[in-house]
Amino acid sequence: MKIAIIPGDGIGKEVTAEALKVLRAVGARFGRTFEIEPLPWCADYYLETGITIPPNGYELLREFDALFVGALGDPRVPDNRHARDILLGTRFALDLYVNYRPVRLLDERLCPLKGRGPEDVNFVVFRENTEGLYVSVGGRFKAGTDDEIAIQEELNTYKGVHRIIRYAFDFATTRGLTKVCMADKSNAMTDGHALWQRVFREVAPQYPSIAATHYYIDALAMYMVMDPGQFQVIVTNNLFGDIITDLGATFQGGLGMAASGNIHPGRTSMFEPVHGSAPKFAGKNVANPIGAISSVALMLETLGLNDEAEAIDRAVLKAVREGQVTADIGGSLGTTQAGDVIVAAVRSG
Ligand code: NAD
Ligand code: IPM
Ligand code: MN
Repeated sequence: MKIAIIPGDGIGKEVTAEALKVLRAVGARFGRTFEIEPLPWCADYYLETGITIPPNGYELLREFDALFVGALGDPRVPDNRHARDILLGTRFALDLYVNYRPVRLLDERLCPLKGRGPEDVNFVVFRENTEGLYVSVGGRFKAGTDDEIAIQEELNTYKGVHRIIRYAFDFATTRGLTKVCMADKSNAMTDGHALWQRVFREVAPQYPSIAATHYYIDALAMYMVMDPGQFQVIVTNNLFGDIITDLGATFQGGLGMAASGNIHPGRTSMFEPVHGSAPKFAGKNVANPIGAISSVALMLETLGLNDEAEAIDRAVLKAVREGQVTADIGGSLGTTQAGDVIVAAVRSG
């Protein structure tokens, strides 16, 4: 299998190195060769060459079986242009409409919610990933003056809303789950989110064995904290999904723990930790590599390599249970040492 790797910026580079070590270890253990192609696109590359992603970049990415990204974002690029082209651009150009973000607590010790354990925190968020407020439709008029007008439109299409809601129900069905919760802000956004309401009401009855519920996004944020155990599958729009998955990451032990996939079923998909480039930690060998490593597991699962994915998940769980982890989750290891522990556990099965 051919896999493109974009380490990106800051701690993205460091966690990607660990994720790659784990990918190679799992390949060796299961007798699979992964053909890895590193791609240099990042803030340094942009600042040196003026190129964010080359003109044939998205075409090139389509040639791979999967893509892995560390993180993109650098204070020297304040308008985030390179991240917009490389990360958001790939989500749009490859039509990766499913942002799959599991929220799974591995050990009670890691959860900041009082009295909550792994049985209470185990759900997935499906974030619509190709439209919403992310489409860059809008502009600024009289920018920089006291008369400035800034417009950024939220785009909701029947096709876009329908396919992510349907995906959430299909996922619940194939995983033997019984509940799907849709979150929007249709009480205030009475046009755009009326479409979410309409589609949800249209799709839900086609899945009679699944209990379909709805919360406004503000209430959902509250219920996530108060009673996370009620959720199995949450489906929401692009921006709300971004926000609630950082919240969900804290339930898992912090941003260093959360994994994600940007998926178009059956096509080249992209996997990345939920966290960003964490500039304050960059180059210090302190970043937690588990979000990145678990994203490799999601990648392998999506490629149909379930045994390989499970081997990684087991190795991560073992490292967490034994406290052989980085400081953000209570250990004392550096990024590379934490990666080594997981590599060793993958090798020994
Ligand atoms: P961030 O996720 O980079 O970091 C926020 C804080 O979370 C960090 O300061 C750190 O305390 C903690 N953290 C994050 N990852 C960690 C890890 N692996 N181990 C331990 N602690 C970790 O968010 P930010 O500071 O808002 O953004 C920094 C840059 O990253 C920005 O340029 C932003 O746009 C970008 N970003 C990129 C992605 C992506 O590439 N997918 C995601 C989020 C943010
Ligand atoms: C994420 C990130 C990105 C997003 C940023 C870097 C544009 O926060 O993947 O969660 O908002 O989608
Ligand atoms: Mn985010």
